[in-house]
Amino acid sequence: MIDAALTHAYPWTKALHVISVIAWMAGMFYLPRLYVYHTMLSPGTAESERFKVMERRLMKQIINPAMIAAWSFGVLLVLTPGVIDWKHDGWWHVKLLMVLLMSGFHGAISKWRREFRDDRNRRSTRFYRIANEVPTVLMVIIVIMVIVKPF
Ligand code: HEM
Repeated sequence: MIDAALTHAYPWTKALHVISVIAWMAGMFYLPRLYVYHTMLSPGTAESERFKVMERRLMKQIINPAMIAAWSFGVLLVLTPGVIDWKHDGWWHVKLLMVLLMSGFHGAISKWRREFRDDRNRRSTRFYRIANEVPTVLMVIIVIMVIVKPF
């Protein structure tokens, strides 16, 4: 019964998964970029306070709900019969590892946001410039795993 429903819904589940992933990634690319510019502002200035508002809204209105949706539809895809062959699909294990790292990075940018909010950031502009590349690298590997499925 449930298997038949999941199979029937598969194209929709996948579409909703990709839509949520796009929203999640948009935020994951943009938030560390805001931190790059935020490090250049002195705490207490009106500009710094404006960045805090942008960072909070991006995190709470886009990134968090999009991650929950991406995970929810992703888990439904995993449960859909025939999508993953647990014995032979090496791509899935690599994707899962990359998605866990992506979620860990989500946790890190969430912590950094709270530090900016409390004027406690001690990290450099260079640190955030480098951190900004992490979700890009993970995204490239994930997309190659799910589309090319090289192993
Ligand atoms: C959050 C946890 C995630 C889980 C559990 C998950 C799981 C899955 C599964 C099982 C599929 C179906 C694969 C197939 O039909 O062959 C899929 C498809 C897909 N996933 Fe994810 N995924 C997650 C996150 C992501 C992320 C972060 C990205 C991109 C950065 C992504 C990009 C895609 C794409 C593009 C497809 C469609 C591939 C196709 O056309 O067949 N996923 N995902």
